[in-house]
Parts: sequence; C-alpha cells; structure tokens
Amino acid sequence: MSQQLPTAAIIGAGSSGIAALKALVEQGFDVTCFEASDRVGGNWVFENKNGMSACYRDLHINTSRDRMEYSDFPMPRDYPDYPDHRQIAAYFDAYVDHFGIRDRIRFETRVEHAERLGDGTWELTLDDGTTHRFDALLVANGHHWNPRWPEPAFPGSDTFEGVQMHAHAYMSPDFMAGRSVVVLGMGNSAMDIAVEASYVTDRVFLAARRGAWIVPKYLFGKPTDQFRNDPRIPFKIRQKVMQQIMKTTIGPPEKFGLPKPDHEFGQAHPTVSGRILDRITHGAVKPKPNIARLDGDGVVFEDGTREQADIVVYCTGYKITFPFFDEDFVSAPDNHIELYRRVVHPDVPNLFFIGLLQPLGAVMPLSEAQGQWIADHLRGEYALPPRDQLLAEMAADQAAMHRRYVASKRHTIQVDFDDYLHDLAKERRRGAERARLAGFALPVAPLAAQDTAAV
Ligand SMILES: Cc1cc2nc3c(=O)[nH]c(=O)nc-3n(C[C@H](O)[C@H](O)[C@H](O)COP(=O)(O)OP(=O)(O)OC[C@H]3O[C@@H](n4cnc5c(N)ncnc54)[C@H](O)[C@@H]3O)c2cc1C
Ligand SMILES: NC(=O)c1ccc[n+]([C@@H]2O[C@H](COP(=O)([O-])OP(=O)(O)OC[C@H]3O[C@@H](n4cnc5c(N)ncnc54)[C@H](OP(=O)(O)O)[C@@H]3O)[C@@H](O)[C@H]2O)c1
Repeated sequence: MSQQLPTAAIIGAGSSGIAALKALVEQGFDVTCFEASDRVGGNWVFENKNGMSACYRDLHINTSRDRMEYSDFPMPRDYPDYPDHRQIAAYFDAYVDHFGIRDRIRFETRVEHAERLGDGTWELTLDDGTTHRFDALLVANGHHWNPRWPEPAFPGSDTFEGVQMHAHAYMSPDFMAGRSVVVLGMGNSAMDIAVEASYVTDRVFLAARRGAWIVPKYLFGKPTDQFRNDPRIPFKIRQKVMQQIMKTTIGPPEKFGLPKPDHEFGQAHPTVSGRILDRITHGAVKPKPNIARLDGDGVVFEDGTREQADIVVYCTGYKITFPFFDEDFVSAPDNHIELYRRVVHPDVPNLFFIGLLQPLGAVMPLSEAQGQWIADHLRGEYALPPRDQLLAEMAADQAAMHRRYVASKRHTIQVDFDDYLHDLAKERRRGAERARLAGFALPVAPLAAQDTAAV
C-alpha cells in the first residue's frame, strides 16, 4: 500500500505502550510515544520517577514468565517461572532495544492535555507547554496508579491514631517491624503485603469483606496459568473442573479461617498466592472479617472483635483515570468505560486504548495483539463492523461480564486471556474481509502530517 498513513501518538511507554509502538513502527507509521518517566516499563520500575508505580521491593509477577512474554521476544530462559520486578523491567528495556524503537519514545515528557479538534485531529499539550498534532491517539497510561481508598471512609478514620496507607505507597515491610498491622482486601496486593508483614511482626490481621479462591502459583508441578484453557470449551465446564481441582488439592478457603467465597471459582479476578495459606496455617496472619470502624489506637471488625493497630494498609484497588482528557469527554466513573473489545471508542473513531483490561492471565500478549490490530485498522487492512453490530457486540460483552463477575469496581474490564486472543484473532479475520470489500479505505485521513513532522 503506497498511500500516506495517518500519524499516531501513544501516551505511555509501559509494557502496553511499547507493544503498540512496536506494532505501529513495524507497519510503517510515523508514531511518537510520550513517556512521563525516564525509562520504559511503567509499573515494573521500582521507585519509578513518574511517581505512578505500585512496585514494591520484593514484587514478583504472579502470571508466569511464559504467559507474560511477548510472542516474538521470549524472556531469558534463565529467568525463573515468576521473575522479580528487576528482571521484568530489564526485559521491557531489552524489548525496545531489540526492536529498535527507543528513538520513537520521548522520555520525561508528560502529556498534560489531549483534545480532539474540529477537524478530528488530536492536539496534545505536553508538560513543556508545546502542542503537537496527530491523526490518531493510542492511550496506554496504565490503570494501577490512582489508588482507590475505601468508599466511604470507615467511621473513625479521621481520628485513628496510627498510620493509614494505600497499597500503592507500600515499598517494603521494614517499617512494620514489631508493630500491629491490619491489611484490608482479598486481592493480590493484600496477599503479598500480609505475607511480607508477617515476617517482621507477629501481629498481622487480614480483613476482608468477601472471600476469594486462593490460586497457588503451581498446580501439579506446573505454573497454574499454563494449564490449557481452551476457549472452545464452555466456560461453565472449565470453571467446574478448576473449582474441583482447587477444592481437592487445596481445600475450601473457609478451612483456613478465611471467609467462604460468595461466588464460584472464576467469578472474581484471581487472587494468586503461593504463600498466604502457609502463613495463615502458621498463625502468622490472622483472618478477620471486614473493618467496621477505626477506634483510636485500634480497629473494630464486623464480628465485634477489636485489635490494637498501628498500621492499616488499604489494598482496595485502583481507579481508571485519564487526567489528560476533559472529564466530560472521556472518563471512567466507578471504573466503567465501554469500549469495543476494550480498545475502540465507539464514538471517537481515532481513539484507542491499549492494555485497559484485567485479564485472567498476563496483560502483555493482549496489548501486543491490540497494537497489531489497531495498526491493521489504521492501515485500512481491518474494518470495524457496522455501527449497530459494534454496539450490539459491546452490549453483549458487557452483559456477559456483569452476569459472570461479582459486582465490584474491580470487575469492569475483565477478560479471559485465551478467549480474548482467540476472539480477537477471529474478529481480525472478519474485519480483514470487510476491509477488502471496502477497498482498503483508511479509517482516519492523514490530515496533520505536516504539523507533526516537527515533533
Ligand atoms: C503490584 C502490581 C503487580 C502486578 N502484577 C502483574 C503480573 O504479575 N502480571 C500482569 O500481567 N499484570 C500485573 N499487574 C498489572 C499491571 O497493570 C501490568 O503488569 C502492566 O504494568 C500494565 O502495563 P501498562 O503499560 O498498561 O501500564 P503501566 O505499567 O502503568 O505503564 C503506563 C505508562 O504510562 C506512562 N504515563 C502515564 N500517564 C502519562 C502521561 N500523561 N504522559 C506520558 N506518560 C504517561 C507512565 O509513566 C507509565 O510508564 C500488576 C499490577 C500491580 C499494581
Ligand atoms: N504479585 C503480583 O503480581 C501482584 C501483586 C499485587 C497486585 N497485583 C495486581 O494489581 C492489580 C490490583 O490488585 P489489588 O489487590 O491492589 O486490587 P484489587 O484486585 O482491585 O482488589 C481490591 C480488594 O479490596 C477490596 N475492597 C475494595 N474496596 C473495599 C472496601 N471499601 N472495603 C473492604 N474491601 C474493599 C475488594 O473487595 P471486592 O472484591 O469485594 O470488591 C478486593 O478484595 C490486580 O491486577 C492484581 O492482580 C499483582
């Protein structure tokens, strides 16, 4: 295809942004990636100077190495199954060098504002005050950096005498030594922080408003997420098999004093921990129901028990946030944002979101597939379905997600790893045929090419 392609900007050079960048560069786009930090890797950069990373000193991935790697760039074979954040950040660094895309990234450059102009092009205002225009915008700014504190705050939180913090600010358990710690939540942050705290103090309480199925890192000698999860088998059957395996190999969570899950396996984002049950069985972490109120130098739980507490760590999740958009243009109140296949904005034809999903599995291969898909689309080699069909598919996806998952602000962008890749591949084939019938027309006209040449 010899016609001029639209120009594109990507916000963020985390693992999602770099995957999209590589896909667009490979397809010949003039693309610029803006990154607030001085390096790639986003969340995986400990003490990232962007101030947005939730990484702590001993963070390891909980999706296995072979699930997390990009399809054409394996992680080093001497990495363990669950590498630490240093190895993961080094892997992303190596990725941009291997594919020669580092010079397309403008580091230490934050996008302050993104506005869609009357002609449909994007005007980005950077933190140095300059503005730049692009034909298409890909947003890859991550969704685990804006802490969600308990809503509403617990009674007594304004007069609590100890420290209240969010998991996002947690770096290491050192300051917890010998102190009394309450960790709230049943997600992966709560598991890791409760376990780590339990090695420096013998007073760790794990409070939860809902139970969870705790998935071990290994099952039958293999990383758990490497078990075949065939999208062609109905979810209900896969769910039953996994739940039965969990019950027979581990036992139900309530056997460990944890709340009985109010849902079946696979109806909540997986809580993966190879260590929490062990620490509970050693008495090093004590399960509690939800916090009822904070009470001076202690915490009162919903069962009426009270524990003296020096530190409360709220592992209560994150808010999906786009600070560079005017709120009435695009936002995600209570984490709700409706996108076609979690990527395409139905009303803004040149706006795409990469990595804005919560997979049961790793994010990176999905961001990679999304980037390739959007590159095809912007080249005119994939055409979206007609609008009524697109909206109907979006509505059906949303309804299926709400039917399946526990109602919670953490379950608004869930996908199954294998199913998502499988369905997207199918959709790309359909869209390629539509594009062929439409004569490979570009969906976004390259209007701003001259202006961006100066970037
Ligand atoms: C503690 C923790 C552990 C996790 N563990 C796993 C795991 O094991 N496996 C897994 O698959 N996922 C895991 N996740 C999910 C995590 O979101 C992904 O691993 C991954 O970081 C997503 O990459 P991303 O590029 O979408 O976002 P991020 O890694 O957050 O990167 C976003 C990038 O955008 C940049 N940026 C943001 N706003 C702007 C702006 N306005 N201008 C310029 N640049 C901007 C940031 O500086 C950053 O570099 C974990 C999350 C947390 C919080
Ligand atoms: N080692 C790792 O790789 C690792 C470590 C940490 C985090 N992560 C990832 O990071 C992401 C965020 O995880 P997260 O654990 O920080 O957040 P999360 O998955 O959103 O979990 C939040 C937890 O807090 C609970 N909660 C929220 N508001 C509450 C309230 N007001 N009162 C009581 N409980 C409340 C939720 O309960 P409900 O279910 O009832 O809403 C849930 O148990 C996930 O993708 C996770 O996999 C990975």
